[in-house]
Amino acid sequence: MIKVKNLVKVYGEGDSAERAIDDITLEIPEAKFVAIMGKSGCGKTTFLNLIGGLDYPSSGEIFCKGIRLNDLSNNQLSDYRNKNIGYVFQDFYLEPSFTTLENVEMPLIIAGMPKKERRQKAIELLNRLGLEDKIHKKVNTLSGGQKQRAAIARALVHSPSIILADEPTGNLDSKNGAEVIAILKQISLEGKTVILATHNKEDAMKADYIIELVDGRVSKRTEADHEEK
Ligand SMILES: Nc1ncnc2c1ncn2[C@@H]1O[C@H](COP(=O)(O)OP(=O)(O)O)[C@@H](O)[C@H]1O
Ligand SMILES: [Mg+2]
Repeated sequence: MIKVKNLVKVYGEGDSAERAIDDITLEIPEAKFVAIMGKSGCGKTTFLNLIGGLDYPSSGEIFCKGIRLNDLSNNQLSDYRNKNIGYVFQDFYLEPSFTTLENVEMPLIIAGMPKKERRQKAIELLNRLGLEDKIHKKVNTLSGGQKQRAAIARALVHSPSIILADEPTGNLDSKNGAEVIAILKQISLEGKTVILATHNKEDAMKADYIIELVDGRVSKRTEADHEEK
């Protein structure tokens, strides 16, 4: 469970100060697929970065799995991220000169996992995501959809409980975009909390809950009423 209480993030000071997140209070249950929807500049990325422990709030509180993130030092936050958070980005952020396997293994190398074990984990995920024939290819030879699937494998490889996906379909055509959203949905069904930031209503509609932001505030909450569940 993720809980945020009176969350505020201000960028800048004095006259140029801007409230990117402006008093948000909400709870996100475990193992759900939640969409944070809104126009560019409404605060989606800022919100994900706060939940993901990449930044500190200006005021208000964030609790993730009972941990109050406000209380953590920089090192503790980095530890929190490594244990709990998988990030997926619009631009993939893969290392182009590395193979797909090397990219997916990277978080486990950082975590100090022995080679045999980490290789096995990475290959298992790449197989699951339909990239078995791309394992030893340089990642810059992959299509956009394949790159994003590789990035999802990398986000999952250290078994985080929370996946944060920031406009993950932004650089994909609609077919590959729909596939990425379906994978995120599946990940939530397997017990992970998935938070998707998107300005795309069609993508958001696939989530269990939609939280709409306008100017850093929650303007609307919708519980999806899917025909097929
Ligand atoms: N590092 C930053 N410094 C100053 N202003 C920022 C920074 N990051 C975001 N902002 C501002 O905060 C607001 C919310 O941005 P962001 O969270 O990136 O929105 P979104 O992801 O919905 O497009 C925007 O007005 C943006 O210009
Ligand atoms: Mg953004």
